[in-house]
Order: sequence, then structure tokens, then C-alpha cells
Amino acid sequence: MKAVYTALQLRKAINYLKKTDSKIGFVPTMGALHEGHLSLVRLCRQQNDITVVSIFVNPNQFNDKNDLKNYPRTPEADTAILETAGCDIVFIPDAQEIYPCPDTRIFNFGGLDQVMEGKFRPGHFNGVAQVVTRLFQLVEPHRAYFGLKDFQQLAILRRVVADLNLPVELIACPIVREPDGLAMSSRNMLLTPEQRKHSPVISNTLLKAKEMKESMTPDEIRQFVAGRINEDPLLETEYFEIVNDTTLQPVKSWSENGEKIGCVAVKVGGIRLIDNIIFSS
Ligand code: PAJ
Repeated sequence: MKAVYTALQLRKAINYLKKTDSKIGFVPTMGALHEGHLSLVRLCRQQNDITVVSIFVNPNQFNDKNDLKNYPRTPEADTAILETAGCDIVFIPDAQEIYPCPDTRIFNFGGLDQVMEGKFRPGHFNGVAQVVTRLFQLVEPHRAYFGLKDFQQLAILRRVVADLNLPVELIACPIVREPDGLAMSSRNMLLTPEQRKHSPVISNTLLKAKEMKESMTPDEIRQFVAGRINEDPLLETEYFEIVNDTTLQPVKSWSENGEKIGCVAVKVGGIRLIDNIIFSS
């Protein structure tokens, strides 16, 4: 595996490995890698000739300065893990490399950013779109891999790719969970042992909600989920929404067309965790 730090080094490393018709797969990350990230890397390796992973904690997508400061950074462990996982090139740029000039682009997500995460993290998705489009320009991947854990992020990036007609195929990857159900996240390592013990209530409640779908309306499920999570003294629901998977608009009745997905954000002390579950159409 080659570790590169600048756009120029990245281009050289790709050109060195690339043959005619080589397919380049790309996994953008913010590091502090875990099995969730690695599942994306594995699928990428299966489907492409060259696997590029980026590690960049993108300041533009953090609306909370403290969150940016506290975001876990484990560069040595990340590089070792990627080496073992068979990654070909790891790109670890600094902010100057990604944003040589301040990125002033404002994206129009057609309202997809006005709900859920977008409401609680203003500007977050604009920052995500800035960095991902910039990384796409540098890597020029044929396919890029994103986790369904960040469901709204994927929905928004799909729109950006369609809108700008970017020549990349986005591949959605299933949520990887800890044995007790907690969705893997780099932020999990910031939880105290006590908070960590309580956190599986989130995924357990989503599973229970899915089981109860037959006997409850979407609104009743909304009340049930928020109520059950908030019963735990360490957890506080920021939002729980059941939305259509493409419009991200709230579902009023189960008889509506399209895939329905339940998305939740929960504060565990100062740590914010998100998760979701497909209720199916
Ligand atoms: P990060 O949180 O590091 O996640 C990188 C990728 O891993 C995302 O596509 C995310 O959805 C996926 N992922 C994280 N946890 C997962 C899990 N438990 N199961 C499956 N996939 C999981 O998302 C970002 O970084 C950034 O916003 C980024 C896209 C890199 C732009 O800065």
C-alpha cells in the first residue's frame, strides 16, 4: 500500500498502478477506522482493480467546533488496518491540499438538507458535498462506496452526482453493527463505559419499532421510539423520523409508495449517535 499526502503524489500513485480499463474504486473516510469502514473497503476491492481510501477530517462539515476538536484521530492504526485490508493507495491530505482556496460553493439539494441531520447540523451537508466533489476530482473514481449508516448523506450525494452529472457510480453498503446491535461509528470510542452500555437501546428500539409496524401508524411508531429511548436516563432523542427514502419527506401512512426508513439521532451525554432502519415499502 502506498500512503500519499498531496494531490500530485496521489495522481502519480494512481497513474503508476493504472492500466487501460482499470477500474478505480474509492472509499472516502474521516479515519478512526472500524469494521464499518472496512466493509466498504472490502466491497471496493471486490469490484475494482485499484482501491483508494482517503482519510480527511473535513473541517467544512463540522458545524460544532468542539465536535471537530474532539473527533477521534488514529492515523497510525488506520494506516496499519488499511494495509492489512489490501487497500492500494491511502490519501491523507491536509486542509490546504483539499482547499487551496476557500470553498465558497453553495449546493442546492432540493430540500433534502432541510430535514433530520440538516435541521440540527446547519451547513453540514454543504461541507460534505464540497469535500466529496473535491475528492472525486482528485481521485477520478469509477465507483465510490458509502455506508447506509449515514443514510441522508448518501441520499444527498446521489442527488449531487445526478445534478452535476458526475461520472461516478455510488455504491450503498449495509450498516455494520457491534454484536449488541449498536451501529459502528468512530464516535463510539468517545463514549464512557457506562454510556456505551446504554447505547444499544437505540438499535434495539428501532428493531422493536419495525416489529410493531403492522399494528401501529407511523405517528404511533414515532411516539413509541422517542418515548422508549428517552426512558433511558443517559439517552436523549434529538429526532426520530420515518421518511420516504428518496424524497426524505415524512411518511404519513404505510400505504404510501416507496421505501420507508426510520432515522434517529440520539445524544448520549455530549456524543451524538445516528442510526436507521428500513421499514420497507
Ligand atoms: P466517516 O464517518 O468516516 O464514514 C466514512 C464512510 O463509512 C461513510 O460512507 C459512512 O457511511 C461509512 N460508515 C461509517 N460507519 C458505518 C457502519 N457502521 N456501517 C457501514 N458503513 C459505515 O461519512 C463520512 O466519514 C464523511 O462525511 C465523508 C463522506 C468521508 C466526507 O467527509
